[in-house]
Amino acid sequence: MTAVSDEQSTELLTEHRHTMHVLLFGASGRIGRRITDELLSRDHEVTGVSRSGDIEGVDDPDFEAVAGDATDPNDVAALAEGHDAVASALGPSEDEGVDVLVEMAEAVVEGLQETGVDRLVWTGGAGVLEVAPGTRLVDTEEFPDEWEPVARAAIDAYGVIESSALDWTYLAPAALIEPGERTGEYRTSDGELVVDDDGDSYISMEDFAVAFVDELENEEGVRTLRGVGY
Ligand SMILES: NC(=O)c1ccc[n+]([C@@H]2O[C@H](COP(=O)([O-])OP(=O)(O)OC[C@H]3O[C@@H](n4cnc5c(N)ncnc54)[C@H](OP(=O)(O)O)[C@@H]3O)[C@@H](O)[C@H]2O)c1
Repeated sequence: MTAVSDEQSTELLTEHRHTMHVLLFGASGRIGRRITDELLSRDHEVTGVSRSGDIEGVDDPDFEAVAGDATDPNDVAALAEGHDAVASALGPSEDEGVDVLVEMAEAVVEGLQETGVDRLVWTGGAGVLEVAPGTRLVDTEEFPDEWEPVARAAIDAYGVIESSALDWTYLAPAALIEPGERTGEYRTSDGELVVDDDGDSYISMEDFAVAFVDELENEEGVRTLRGVGY
């Protein structure tokens, strides 16, 4: 496990920091809105995608909202042009089935292959992370039945991303991720579920966004499945 504090993260970033132009799919979603805020607070330029092209409540000259369908490789390729990196906080919206996640991963990979943009950081699901060697969270008895379909879809999406030739990072949150506080502190793992001293696996959406932008700014996690938690 690697622990990151707010101070360390700032030091690390001063070395690597340059303004990036990021295309963010899912910018209108719960996690995507926090990633948008984190990117803008670090002076990056953000093009936020939603299907309608509307993204409420972001008022910043470095932000542009655009319409696009993440299941359409042509839309992905056209939108990605001119960006340094592509980020995803995509999830199945209420009007879509969980398998749309796999379609999205396929379209994003296929679309990016048509462009010069190689860097992809993806918000994944905790189900793929290991709780013991060879045992993924989704395969444990405690894993809630109602979350299993979306967790399995997220694992299939991981398979698509991981077998691509892109410079991908699949960032999987803790078992529980909710709106909360931005502390700037978190720990990462290589493929394991991050659990705190009390046995809880938790991260606020705000601190997940900090970890996500750290990952974008810092290429150490290229071609890595990373867990994030406290
Ligand atoms: N513990 C865990 O493992 C855990 C917990 C929570 C979430 N997650 C994962 O994190 C991700 C984000 O979660 P969230 O709660 O922030 O999701 P959310 O609020 O439902 O947001 C989903 C986003 O995806 C966009 N989207 C959906 N279909 C699209 C399409 N066809 N084309 C373009 N954009 C599309 C939505 O945009 P529109 O405005 O167009 O609908 C929205 O911005 C999900 O993949 C979820 O599985 C994992």
